[in-house]
Amino acid sequence: MTKSVTLRRPDDWHLHLRDGAMLQAVASFSSHFGRAIIMPNLVPPVVTGAQAAAYRDRIRAALGPKMTLRPLMTLYLTETTDPADVLAAHAAGIIAAVKLYPAGATTNSASGVRDFDKVRGVLEAMAQAGIPLCFHGEVTDPAVDIFDREAAFIDRVLDPIRRATPGLRVVMEHITTSDGVDYVAGNDDIGATITTHHLVINRNHILAGGIRPHYYCLPVAKRETHRLALRRAAVSGDARFFLGTDSAPHPDHAKESACGCAGCFTAPNTMSILAQVFEDEGALDRLEGFTALNGAAFYGMKPNQDRIRLVRRDTPAAYPTHIPAGDETVTVFDPGFPLYWHVEDPA
Ligand code: DOR
Ligand code: ZN
Repeated sequence: MTKSVTLRRPDDWHLHLRDGAMLQAVASFSSHFGRAIIMPNLVPPVVTGAQAAAYRDRIRAALGPKMTLRPLMTLYLTETTDPADVLAAHAAGIIAAVKLYPAGATTNSASGVRDFDKVRGVLEAMAQAGIPLCFHGEVTDPAVDIFDREAAFIDRVLDPIRRATPGLRVVMEHITTSDGVDYVAGNDDIGATITTHHLVINRNHILAGGIRPHYYCLPVAKRETHRLALRRAAVSGDARFFLGTDSAPHPDHAKESACGCAGCFTAPNTMSILAQVFEDEGALDRLEGFTALNGAAFYGMKPNQDRIRLVRRDTPAAYPTHIPAGDETVTVFDPGFPLYWHVEDPA
């Protein structure tokens, strides 16, 4: 029997589209999403409203007139960010949120925040204006084990900032631990994105039986108990949890290297993978909430009006294993199981 589910068109609340040849190569793979929060960690980063508007225009040009994905831009918070520029960019409809990278936490985060007191003024202005703050939630203290960096971040940074800045709406991006799930589930004015890959892999996928660089991302996947906690949160129906793929393409040579970059490129097959995960959890009826309703509600936006259909067929859906990007290739995330759910997009 053919199974199918019809959903409001999903949104991706955390996406890396990059720039230049890579942007041209990857943009179309997210085109079945209605909206996407676009990460600002370019080189150099997107720090001003004017830069965000210019980047948005480059994305629109790469998408072309036929693709309907709406890029929702973010600013990269630095210790010298001008609160007035943030407020103006938000009031002009250029940005939907601001992204905080602790300096050194991940790809292109060197211009991020070292001293959180230095951004207090911007955060207070954002709280007043209702502008969400998206956090990369990991401490950078070299004394903290990489697998503990998310939990340490909650205690040392996230909770103190939230207490000091009442009303600040915070998204804990790409949570990877039960600590993250518990913190979000126990608080208000907070949401969390969960990636596709963190619902599928644990740290064994990266390290057991050989090192697999295409599963390396940040925050790094944790042990199985954490993956299971993320799956429970994603299918729970709790509106604080929503999809942010963190699809993060890198050229293969930069991943397959003595010092490989962090990032999984999941845009092409994300919806097929998620349908399988939700089916396995007996929660296909919650897939629409996770991918199309909860995030929009958090950001104060209406759900998309149109719909896509996911159909489970007997033959697997065909996805490329690699895509070309200029002179490079990019490896598509391999979930390790066949994908029988096909995306049928009437658009
Ligand atoms: O795996 C990741 N890749 N995590 C991040 O935080 C950044 C991203 C990227 O930009 O490559
Ligand atoms: Zn990211």
